Amino acid sequence: MKLLIINGPNLNMLGRRESAHYGTLTLTDINTKLIERADGRAELEFFQSNHEGAITDRIQLSSGFDGIIINAGAYTHTSIAIRDALLAVKVPFVEVHLSNVYAREDFRHKSYLSDIARGVIAGFGWMSYALALEFFMSEPK
Ligand code: DQA
Repeated sequence: MKLLIINGPNLNMLGRRESAHYGTLTLTDINTKLIERADGRAELEFFQSNHEGAITDRIQLSSGFDGIIINAGAYTHTSIAIRDALLAVKVPFVEVHLSNVYAREDFRHKSYLSDIARGVIAGFGWMSYALALEFFMSEPK
């Protein structure tokens, strides 16, 4: 099984960014933990960009993947382009967030991805990604 893990804007700043919301691990730390948890059961490819178009381009090239785990960061709340790319490729995806976006500002309660996602996981820090990974690895084919 091949999974694509996409991180959007400012997630390259993890470890230096609002630790009360996002914890102290860097994105590299999180990716390392996911590789450990996959333990050879899934091949993981990682992509991070601060640019909406680059994320859209990467999604367009994802048709060979069994699933996508995406934390689109702030683009979650704004991006019709990322939504449309996910609809176009039809690869099942799980929307993840480190923080519980529903316990934060109102503008974070709106997601352009949730209604087309296989599922949504928010508020568990790096474990949000791990739970999404567990889902894909245990889902019957
Ligand atoms: C986030 C939540 C978003 O609202 C925010 O813009 C982020 C990170 C999260 O992982 O909690 O950049 O997606």
